[in-house]
Amino acid sequence: MRTKIRIILLLTASLMSAGIHAQKFKSLAQTPPMGWNSWNTFGTDINEQLVKDIADAFVTKGLKEAGYEYIVLDDGWMSMERDPSGNLIADPKKFPGGMKALVDYVHSKGLKFGLYNCAGIKTCAGYPGSRGHEYQDALLYASWGVDYLKYDWCNTEKINAESAYITMRNALYSAGRPVVFSICEWGDNQPWTWGKDVGHLWRISGDITNCWDCELDHGSWSSWGVMKIVEMRRDKRLRQYSGHSHWNDLDMMEVGNGMTVYEDKSHFALWCMLASPLIMGNDLRNASQETLNILKNKEVIAVNQDLLGKEGFRFYAEGDLEIWVKPLSNGEWALAFLNRGSGTLKLNFDWKKHERIEDALNNLYLDFKKRTWKIRDLFNKTDLGDTKGILNKELKEHDVLMVKLTSTN
Ligand code: GLA
Repeated sequence: MRTKIRIILLLTASLMSAGIHAQKFKSLAQTPPMGWNSWNTFGTDINEQLVKDIADAFVTKGLKEAGYEYIVLDDGWMSMERDPSGNLIADPKKFPGGMKALVDYVHSKGLKFGLYNCAGIKTCAGYPGSRGHEYQDALLYASWGVDYLKYDWCNTEKINAESAYITMRNALYSAGRPVVFSICEWGDNQPWTWGKDVGHLWRISGDITNCWDCELDHGSWSSWGVMKIVEMRRDKRLRQYSGHSHWNDLDMMEVGNGMTVYEDKSHFALWCMLASPLIMGNDLRNASQETLNILKNKEVIAVNQDLLGKEGFRFYAEGDLEIWVKPLSNGEWALAFLNRGSGTLKLNFDWKKHERIEDALNNLYLDFKKRTWKIRDLFNKTDLGDTKGILNKELKEHDVLMVKLTSTN
């Protein structure tokens, strides 16, 4: 009897110590992850050739060079049933060469590979979820060489969100292969309050859709336009929770999926100002030059990837004009002047009238009285003088002017 108790105590102690040591892979995602995800354009209609074509497009179209790294297969990559040992199977019709060979192909291009699964019994599209198979699935992903896991929240009635995500985090850690862990819980259980030590990014809302400011009602759930998601983030006061290796995820981007070029530009600018992961969601095989110019703009991307790792904030909103601000490393700042309205906006911005923009959270401020700042138009890659003058610009419906300020004194 005593031996039995001792064994139980030993087992409990070792389980507890495994729990204590398990953690997320802390060195990953020091800046917001950049990549591509299949869902927004392809839904479950995905296959091996598509992934190869996307990997090729990353290289030939300069996306890899611009910093995009992860190719993530969303829902629909599995067979509907696990095998008799309980292992997930990559759908043999969609992936005849098997997942390992496909991951090797992506790696051979110098890129990283991601997969999707779900904390529930089934994924949102009805494929087998990870509930009860977390450690087994993590081992399988590691054996395939997976670098990123998006982990969803469908079919999770009566499950505690934090514990469910911790279980998967621990499983990934035990499997030993560094994986970026993307918490896709839609913000229902405030992942920003517990996600920092669990994952590298967390969704803050329901799904995005390709419109500027709409809500698409699907009955029991809605999907949201770009500005709706931006508003949700503000209402929930999320800025304080984001930082190196733990980012507020505003969802995969809809750039190139049907909005106007000005809307696409503003959408991209906001994702950069707000330090959101930059996960493209369009068909890169036939993306237009206009779309690629937005997605690949290195000066704009640099704001997102800035090493200070601070999320921006809206400091001004009057009429149709919103001004967003993001502190950068080296004492620089990014500003985005956004026309929310449906007409053309004539911007006449007198810097001195604002004197000082304060980032109280980080104890940083931008002073226009004591200092003069050089202005760089980031989308156009041109210099716009300095802050002694007045900034004049015409902004079309839903267009944005994004600038970087560098002190001259
Ligand atoms: C949820 C997620 C989406 C996508 C789908 C897949 O809706 O929020 O991003 O992964 O599931 O079924």
